[in-house]
Amino acid sequence: MGRKIVITSGKGGVGKTTVTANLAYALAAAGERVVAADGDLGLNNLDVAMGIEGKISYDLFDCMEGRCRAKQALVQSPWHKNLFVMPACFGKNRKEANAAAMRSVIGDLGRIFDFVLIDCPAGVGEGFRRAVSCSEEALIVTNPHVSSLRDADKVVNLMNETHPVNMWTVVNRMRGDLAAAGEILTPREISSLLSVELIGVIPEDDGILCGAALGGKKSARAFAVLAANLIKNRRRIYDCVGAYTGFWGSIKRKLKSIL
Ligand SMILES: Nc1ncnc2c1ncn2[C@@H]1O[C@H](COP(=O)(O)OP(=O)(O)OP(=O)(O)O)[C@@H](O)[C@H]1O
Ligand SMILES: [Mg+2]
Repeated sequence: MGRKIVITSGKGGVGKTTVTANLAYALAAAGERVVAADGDLGLNNLDVAMGIEGKISYDLFDCMEGRCRAKQALVQSPWHKNLFVMPACFGKNRKEANAAAMRSVIGDLGRIFDFVLIDCPAGVGEGFRRAVSCSEEALIVTNPHVSSLRDADKVVNLMNETHPVNMWTVVNRMRGDLAAAGEILTPREISSLLSVELIGVIPEDDGILCGAALGGKKSARAFAVLAANLIKNRRRIYDCVGAYTGFWGSIKRKLKSIL
């Protein structure tokens, strides 16, 4: 049975979809068979992030409603032969979408793939509960800012109460220069505040989307480390802060603040 991992955050816009897409690619590049499922039935955008918009015949909701089988809705990603997307589509009525039906479709995917990543909608409403209920593990994505941390903390507490699964923290949009200067929390401080073990740190990277998946951008290495941590059950952390500490680091920090 494949691992079913929800990528959630509480707060919107912290990078759930970006982490889902890039982690899915990194896992596939490491030899795993991976599907990224868009759990945001109302405001889908994983299809765009993964470059498969325009190739969708059926979506997750169609599978949930029995209009097609899970395999018929899957779209192969142009990024890797082992990488597939289970899209969601905008514009149909999702209010009545049934959590049990979604769990059944995600369960079918778990029989085909090594990893099923579920991109969770923002907030802690119906869509969140539905997506989370399909998972057996969770990545809590947060930015190193108080507002996103506060929401991540709410999600952790909510999950502990309602759907306790193994959880890990992924700190996204990390600025090593600011952490080294003491202006923002370090990833370790963040994970200790959340009481959820750190498994990944993704740096702020302007070229992150498809660029990271297609290689050459700085976040690609961080996603490869995160993927290896999940596969090998280890905890190496991509270091964004070290380069900005010590004598040369302080010069780099100064230069970054000027440029
Ligand atoms: N590490 C990063 N470096 C730079 N930009 C990033 C990074 N991660 C995400 N972004 C940008 O932040 C924006 C929001 O990202 P994304 O859509 O993945 O967030 P989300 O949590 O899925 O949002 P929503 O809650 O609306 O679903 C996007 O423009 C994305 O490119
Ligand atoms: Mg999203």
